[in-house]
Amino acid sequence: MKKILVTGGLGYIGSHTVVALQETGFEVVVVDNLSNASIDVLVGIESITGKAPQFERLELRDKSAVADFFQSHPDLDGVIHFAASKAVGESVENPLLYYENNIHSLVYLLQNCKEYDVPNLIFSSSCTVYGEPDALPITENAPIKEATSPYGNTKQINEEIIKDTCVASKLQAISLRYFNPIGAHETAHIGELPVGVPQNLVPFITQTAVGLREKLLVFGNDYPTKDGSCIRDYIHVVDLAEAHVVALQRLLDGKNKNSFEVFNVGTGKGSSVLEVITAFEETTGISLFYEITDRRSGDVVSVYADTTQANKTLGWKAKKTMEEALASAWKWEQKIRNQ
Ligand code: WQD
Repeated sequence: MKKILVTGGLGYIGSHTVVALQETGFEVVVVDNLSNASIDVLVGIESITGKAPQFERLELRDKSAVADFFQSHPDLDGVIHFAASKAVGESVENPLLYYENNIHSLVYLLQNCKEYDVPNLIFSSSCTVYGEPDALPITENAPIKEATSPYGNTKQINEEIIKDTCVASKLQAISLRYFNPIGAHETAHIGELPVGVPQNLVPFITQTAVGLREKLLVFGNDYPTKDGSCIRDYIHVVDLAEAHVVALQRLLDGKNKNSFEVFNVGTGKGSSVLEVITAFEETTGISLFYEITDRRSGDVVSVYADTTQANKTLGWKAKKTMEEALASAWKWEQKIRNQ
């Protein structure tokens, strides 16, 4: 049984990926510093797969702690690296936290992958590396623009670090550039647990629908789009999790064409904020109270994926619909509020 380390494996995308890995037959070891995740997520994972993954609390910024971890796990077949700070707004206010955490953690991880000949890495990247695209849908060859936030910059820098490491070592890596993950596992045993006021659209929608927030603010409807609101590519988190397993299998089977590959992981479909609101209302039967306000700084007008490479080369395609994702997000919200 292949053994895979998942860093940040108790987080939103990490936990869904751990479920997908276990269901595919991998042995999973999860590390997490619990700064933005609850240890209870392990129970949620076990409720779905029947088996809690091995878990070790680990601060990836602690170089010696990372070395100790690898010393006790010298037999890893791959790493999926999610652990990072990921709030765009926070990164603007506190850039050094982001540079220290997101870059030091990756460097210490890679140093140990080299030390212990870990052959495969899947990296959690983001469409934010593209900035405001010149052309849509966005392909993996689109120019990497100047980052619009320190968070986005750490994703760009980390991809470069990994690429250079692959050239200089035996490491093979795939970087998955996520678009906008939404939804929750259909069992509602795991889902998104935003800390404090949600920054992202869908958790703010579900918290408004459940009565936790008085209303949803729509950040601008004067953009040059079909209805004036921004367009994004919203992908069900379970589809996104599946993409990590397919990418890992590609490396394990030696099917990668280069030592460092990049894939856009989206649906290929753009939806506006107002369309998401309408889809939520139609899916749940709940009428949402929202108000149009000013634009949010840093927002790009429209971004959605060209998924040709993911579909044809990687052999993965999103299967779930926006409605399924929103229904699962709502089921999850009701579950955590009624606990
Ligand atoms: C989507 C749209 C908002 C909240 C960010 C990161 C990206 C990734 C996903 C980490 C935008 C609008 C939102 C609200 C709103 N994160 N909105 N009212 O900004 O596309 O992507 O999260 O990897 O890297 O950049 O996602 O959900 O914040 O916003 O109108 O209360 O919803 O203006 O148009 P975003 P989002």
